[in-house]
Amino acid sequence: MKVTVTGGTGLIGRGLVRALRARGDEVTALSRNPERAREELGVPVHAWRPLDEPAPAAALEGRDAVVHLAGESVAQRWTDASRRAIRDTRETGTRNLVAGLRAAGPRPDVLVSASAVGYYGGHGDEVVDEATGPGAGFLAEVCVAWEREASAAAELGMRVVNVRTGVVLDKDGGALPKMLPPFRAGVGGPVAGGGQYLPWIHAGDLVRVYLAALDGPDWSGAVNGTAPEPVTNREFSRRLGRVLHRPAVVPVPAAALRLLYGDMAEMVTEGQRAVPRRPLELGFAFDHADLDAALRDVLA
Ligand SMILES: NC(=O)c1ccc[n+]([C@@H]2O[C@H](COP(=O)([O-])OP(=O)(O)OC[C@H]3O[C@@H](n4cnc5c(N)ncnc54)[C@H](OP(=O)(O)O)[C@@H]3O)[C@@H](O)[C@H]2O)c1
Repeated sequence: MKVTVTGGTGLIGRGLVRALRARGDEVTALSRNPERAREELGVPVHAWRPLDEPAPAAALEGRDAVVHLAGESVAQRWTDASRRAIRDTRETGTRNLVAGLRAAGPRPDVLVSASAVGYYGGHGDEVVDEATGPGAGFLAEVCVAWEREASAAAELGMRVVNVRTGVVLDKDGGALPKMLPPFRAGVGGPVAGGGQYLPWIHAGDLVRVYLAALDGPDWSGAVNGTAPEPVTNREFSRRLGRVLHRPAVVPVPAAALRLLYGDMAEMVTEGQRAVPRRPLELGFAFDHADLDAALRDVLA
């Protein structure tokens, strides 16, 4: 398969590009910094500034599929400027990708685009799946706009999949390495009361969700990229402490997180009990459905 990947230099993209190449697919990447991306990924790279221009048709025509991962990091203090960058890189950036696809001929058959479980907003203990409607708040609004722009590729006759991604567990980036220092020092523990759900997924399983979405003619629309058994933040802390052989009893108050991260703290203090109903219906089998085993594998 010939696959073009945006955001291939990121946490998810690096693993996905590696997996695509390992199975013999031909990968091209789009990056704001093509020299660096070429060096890091070892694949041909075209320059693309998602906010400023349509994606280059030369990188899209004649390809079988596109995976869209590029976007300003959500895991940073939300200021007016960072909120704008987070939203615009998803909304305008995805619109510019689809504009490039519109101009390309022949076009790829499928677009698999990242989205996030933030789509659902806060739902407390309630189980949410792909049939649940969008929530309120900044991230939910970003995800709605992001999915709307990606779904416009369906009007071009493409199959579109939006992967509503949970908290990716990976040793090289994302949330887990940030959690580890206090836990290793024996001062880790539940955050903001710990009752909120943490919709985790092992990075390897998320890459396999992307591969399944690329390959499966039945995969379309929203799919949750989360493990089948989300746990509360308290339970996650307990399991992480157990895997590290450290106590995990020192609570972190919500106010401390808010002081550090501003409104971004809501990503940790709210959480979603999201389950992957669509992937399971489509026959996807998780390699890492058990949290202890997933943590042991990631931290090995
Ligand atoms: N990791 C998670 O836990 C998680 C959870 C939910 C959703 N997601 C979503 O999944 C996608 C991939 O996640 P990730 O963790 O792999 O992302 P990432 O590592 O933060 O970044 C992905 C890539 O996006 C490009 N990028 C960064 N800032 C940009 C900007 N201001 N304008 C344009 N491009 C920019 C960069 O590529 P270049 O420098 O090569 O251009 C970067 O390597 C993201 O859209 C993310 O929101 C991730």
